[in-house]
Amino acid sequence: MSPSTPTAAPRTANFPRSFSKAYPVASRGEGVYLWDAPGNRYLDFSGSAAVNFVGHGDASIGRAMAEQAAHLEFAHTSQFTTALAEEFARELLEFAGEGFRGGCVFFTCGGSEAVESALKLGRQYQVEVGEAGRSAIVSRRQAYHGATLGALAVSGNKRRREMYLPMVRTFEQVAIPYRYRCAYDCADGCAACGERYADELAALLGRSGKDTAAFIFEPVSGATLGAAVPPAGYLKAVSDACARHGVLTIADEVMTGMGRTGRKFAVEHWDVHPDILVTAKGIASGYAPLGAVLATKKVVDALARGSGALVHGLTYNAHPVALAAGRAVLARIRKEGLVHAADSAPAGGARTAGANVKRELQRLAEHASVGDVRGMGLLWAVEFVAEKKTKQPFPAEQQFAARVAAAAFKRGVLVYPMQGCADGIAGDHLLLAPPAIISGEQIAWAVGQLSDAIKDVEASGA
Ligand SMILES: Cc1ncc(COP(=O)(O)O)c(C=O)c1O
Repeated sequence: MSPSTPTAAPRTANFPRSFSKAYPVASRGEGVYLWDAPGNRYLDFSGSAAVNFVGHGDASIGRAMAEQAAHLEFAHTSQFTTALAEEFARELLEFAGEGFRGGCVFFTCGGSEAVESALKLGRQYQVEVGEAGRSAIVSRRQAYHGATLGALAVSGNKRRREMYLPMVRTFEQVAIPYRYRCAYDCADGCAACGERYADELAALLGRSGKDTAAFIFEPVSGATLGAAVPPAGYLKAVSDACARHGVLTIADEVMTGMGRTGRKFAVEHWDVHPDILVTAKGIASGYAPLGAVLATKKVVDALARGSGALVHGLTYNAHPVALAAGRAVLARIRKEGLVHAADSAPAGGARTAGANVKRELQRLAEHASVGDVRGMGLLWAVEFVAEKKTKQPFPAEQQFAARVAAAAFKRGVLVYPMQGCADGIAGDHLLLAPPAIISGEQIAWAVGQLSDAIKDVEASGA
C-alpha cells in the first residue's frame, strides 16, 4: 500500500498541532518504521523530533514499564525515594562521566520541565553561595530551550516566542555561531570565528556578569537553526568566560544528549564541562515522557550544605514507570554500542550509521535548492535556498521545507521541517535524526526518497 496524503480533517476532541492539517493515525512502530492505521509504512528519518534513538516497538522496554507499573506505579518524592531512581541516577552520572562524579540527577517529565528546573537550580545555587544579586540567565538568539514560559524566556526561536514575550521577563542574548550564515561574514566556515563569538559573551559578562546566574546553550543547535555545529574553540572559550565571571554553564542536551551526536553528551566533542546538564528526548527514546537535570557536585554541595533543599518540585519527579523506560533504554544503548553507532567520524573509518548518514546526505548538496548540509552524529540538517550564491532564502510563505516534508511523507519517509533559520522568519530546513539502529540500506533508501522529494518540490515551482 502506498502512503496516503493528509487532507483537511474534520474537527475532533483532541487538540491538534495545527487545525489546517489532517494527521494520519499512527498505529504501530517497529525498528525504524512507523505504520498508520490503514497500514502505510514510514521510515522514521527524524526520530519523530530527534526523540527516538533505540528504535520503535522494543517489547522489552514495554515489559520493563509494565512490570514497574504493576509492581509500584508511583510514590511521591516528598515521601519516598525508589531503588529505581537511585540506581538510574547513579547510572546516568556514570554515563555522563568524571565531571558529574558526586553530583545528583533531578528527573522531570520532559525537556521543558528539565530546563525550568535547571534555571531555578542555577539561580538557587547563586543565592546559596551568597550571590543573591545574580538572577539573569544569558542565552543565545535562535536557540530553543522549551515551550514553558521560563524556557521560552531564554529561547530565541522567534516564531515560537513572539506571542508570549509580553508575559515573560527577558534577559540579554548573544549571537549563536551559524557557520553557513556567519555574523562575521567569514568565508572559511568559521575556522577562526569561535573566539569572536565567545568574545561577545565575554564582553556582555564584563558589563553585567555580576547580575548573571547562568548561561544556557545547546552545544549543537537543535531544531531552530538546524544542527549548527559550533566552530572550534567556541564552547571552551564561552565556558572559560563564564567561569571567570562566576556564571554557571547550563548545557541543554535535550536533543543532543544520550548518544545522538556520537558522544554520550555533545559537550564531550569539545571537552567542556558544564555545571548543569539538561537532557530529555533520547533518554527514554519516546517510550515515556522523561527528562533529567544532571548537576555537578559543586552545585549540589552548595544546596546540600546551604539551605538543604531545592525550592522546586513536580508531582511526577522521578516517575517510576518513566524511569523504568529510561533505564531499559540506557541498558540497550550500552549493550548495542549505540553511541558509537551514531558517531559520524569514527576512528578507523568504521561504517557506522552516523558515517553512512553523513556520506549519503552530502549527495543532496547537488540539488539547486540545497544550500547547506550540516550536522554531526545522527543529528543533521539540510537547508534550502532560493539561490545558492547569495544564500537567499525562499520566501517564508512558500513553505519550502514543509512541502519537501510532505513530498517525503508521500514517499514513506518522515523528516522534520522547520522555518526561520535565516532570520527568525525566513529560512527553510529539514532536521534529520534517525534512530541509531538504522541500517546502511535503510539510510540509502531514505536519502534517495528525500532526494526525489526535493526534486518534486523544485519541479513544482513556487
Ligand atoms: C534543545 C531543546 N531544549 C528543550 C526542548 C524542550 O523539550 P520538550 O519538548 O520535551 O519539553 C527541546 C525540544 O525540542 C529542545 O530541542
